[in-house]
Amino acid sequence: MRLISGSARLAGVIGWPVGHSRSPRLHGHWLQRYGVDGAYVPMAVAPADFIEVVRGLAKAGFAGVNVTIPHKEAALALCDSVEPFAARVGAVNTLVFRDGAIHGRNTDGYGFIANLRAHGVRFGGRALILGAGGAARAIGAALQDEGVDVFFCNRTAERGVALAAALNAGTVAWDERAALEGVSLLVNTTSLGMTGKGALAISLERAEAELVVADIVYAPLETALLAAARARGLHAVEGLGMLLHQAVPGFEAWFGVRPQVDAALYEVVAG
Ligand SMILES: NC(=O)c1ccc[n+]([C@@H]2O[C@H](COP(=O)([O-])OP(=O)(O)OC[C@H]3O[C@@H](n4cnc5c(N)ncnc54)[C@H](OP(=O)(O)O)[C@@H]3O)[C@@H](O)[C@H]2O)c1
Repeated sequence: MRLISGSARLAGVIGWPVGHSRSPRLHGHWLQRYGVDGAYVPMAVAPADFIEVVRGLAKAGFAGVNVTIPHKEAALALCDSVEPFAARVGAVNTLVFRDGAIHGRNTDGYGFIANLRAHGVRFGGRALILGAGGAARAIGAALQDEGVDVFFCNRTAERGVALAAALNAGTVAWDERAALEGVSLLVNTTSLGMTGKGALAISLERAEAELVVADIVYAPLETALLAAARARGLHAVEGLGMLLHQAVPGFEAWFGVRPQVDAALYEVVAG
């Protein structure tokens, strides 16, 4: 067991609920691996208490926190400064407390791009993003920053259209999601395919041979979509890597070490 000192650096994750979060395991592995004098703890905080708790943690000497569902928009509102990407996305998932101020970042887009890069994906062409929630927004904006032509395809058409308008992207009707001609990257950002949720019904019949299929659902690790893509010989990229990579900037900001995403970390967090 690793012991911490009286001057240990502190961080954690705030959610409601938070018991499902894999972040304590993830950061705990890195703290141990790099021998950091620090701790990363889960905190279940109700929405009504969120602001008070965050301000309290900053006063208590925490280096910062991750925020997850349902706090990502509320976190943006209480920041003293916000990085431009997070402002564009309208949500933060990483807070850094420094010099009495709260700085907000959104590392989901970074995590998605870094994971695809780690799988050898090159960016360009057209991406079809299924979904129009918070994750879709961060991923769409990050892909645009890589020069990709982004299209959103969402079950609730108005939500997809509103997101596309906000990011100056295109839209595809939900019933047209299998029209994959000319698409170089297909991303599932809906919760479909997740254990306990419904299946994502999409045919890959019309996929180009070079199509990359990415799923950000990571429970199960191998979704039906990824299995179908592999069965067709397409390049499939799993979602757990995004979760691992999105944690890198926060860990570095709080604990002063830029951590590596490697097979050992994958095993620890997947298990
Ligand atoms: N790998 C990672 O690091 C990572 C990071 C963030 C999120 N995620 C995962 O990504 C997923 C989405 O997260 P989020 O925060 O963006 O959620 P969200 O804001 O609640 O958005 C959910 C999206 O899923 C769609 N959806 C839900 N049920 C559907 C159904 N039955 N049929 C069609 N579409 C459906 C919604 O469409 P409507 O608008 O029509 O409701 C919406 O577009 C979750 O599974 C989450 O665990 C993974």
